[in-house]
Amino acid sequence: MLSVKHNEPVEFTEETLSKFAEIVARYPEGKQKSALLPVLHEVQATYGWLSAPAMDSVAAYLNIEPIEVYEVATFYTMFFLQPQGKYALEVCRTGPCCLVGAERIMKHIEKRLGVKEGEVTPDGLFSWRGVECLAACGYGPVLQIGPEYTFYENLTEESVDKLIEELTEKAKS
Ligand code: FES
Repeated sequence: MLSVKHNEPVEFTEETLSKFAEIVARYPEGKQKSALLPVLHEVQATYGWLSAPAMDSVAAYLNIEPIEVYEVATFYTMFFLQPQGKYALEVCRTGPCCLVGAERIMKHIEKRLGVKEGEVTPDGLFSWRGVECLAACGYGPVLQIGPEYTFYENLTEESVDKLIEELTEKAKS
């Protein structure tokens, strides 16, 4: 994953630009704005999050106003507007999951990782946040990890510890 800072200008690589071109080609001539969502997903897959300069560069590429990109990026919670850990744990904090311990699990993750919601661990491996319903309400507490959005269900403190240990090991290999 390429690294990018908050105010760093973003010049997309040839590889990224060719992916953009392939995405835009799916839409009718002059309707390049329709490619915005998949293009933003591509940017996030490349950099891990959407910085303001990256969104400005997307606007320039698609020949639309920057505000049109910000509107979309800030509406959909799957877009990260700040840097995330390599593994971004997203815990459902909607009612049914809270009834079976989601808040306890989030407190445990905070304590275990030593970072508050939205922060990144010093080694860059983990961040976490609470999100709305992940549509696995019968299996709570539940969390997902992007970009593949792998689900982990019926969480306990022990299973969360095991998951963090496994991901830490995976990152080393
Ligand atoms: Fe947690 Fe729906 S309430 S997945």
